[in-house]
Amino acid sequence: MITVIANLKGGSGKSTVAFNLAVWLEINGHHVVGYDLDPQCTFSDLGMLRKEIGNKPELEIHPVRAVLKEQLLSHEDAEVIVDVGAANMAAMKEAMTAADRILIPVPPSQADVWATQRFLHIIGPDLEATKLNGRQKILAFVNRADTNKSIRETHETESALKMLPGIDVVLPYRLRMRTSFRRSLSEGMTVFEMWPRGKAAEEFRILARALYPHVVSH
Ligand SMILES: Nc1ncnc2c1ncn2[C@@H]1O[C@H](COP(=O)(O)OP(=O)(O)O)[C@@H](O)[C@H]1O
Ligand SMILES: [Mg+2]
Repeated sequence: MITVIANLKGGSGKSTVAFNLAVWLEINGHHVVGYDLDPQCTFSDLGMLRKEIGNKPELEIHPVRAVLKEQLLSHEDAEVIVDVGAANMAAMKEAMTAADRILIPVPPSQADVWATQRFLHIIGPDLEATKLNGRQKILAFVNRADTNKSIRETHETESALKMLPGIDVVLPYRLRMRTSFRRSLSEGMTVFEMWPRGKAAEEFRILARALYPHVVSH
């Protein structure tokens, strides 16, 4: 399956989610081929850091400026995860034509809902063309949700996302704002490797299992 993780805005957590998902899949027995199409190269830098430190499993992540649809479709026995940034729109659009689904992490704010709306507007015409194969899905979820449940932004963001034309599913599984995401990344690790019993790991596993229901995880 080809999953493209995308959003117009930087800082929404694309690379963090791509990296944590890639390691989670590898640990659970599924080979991952990653493509990093963002000139910032965070996803591939994390893979490199992991290798340098000697953390296992290693990840196969290709930092590339462009990728062809055929190339993405050629990995029949692997899970493909593509991290894209708005700085490389052409590559983003090409990747989307091959994608089985597009996963959009959205921080809980009105500005991020607007940015997501704009993003859907920009990619809309390209998706219409590829949607003809009937399998492409656009999924969104809230990342960096407030840990204080009485703050309304997360709920409001989910409600606003549900009303956006172009989003097929708003996943009810949030990742909250947890410093462990930042800290683990700086060690080339995932939250569930560093703090397996932590809240971030628990929330992440719920999201990962929902995204990959066929994966038998532990
Ligand atoms: N749920 C979260 N809680 C806390 N920090 C997060 C969370 N998700 C991402 N971050 C941090 O936010 C920063 C930006 O995330 P990143 O994945 O690089 O965003 P993007 O790839 O969309 O630009 C990183 O320092 C990352 O560790
Ligand atoms: Mg990034």
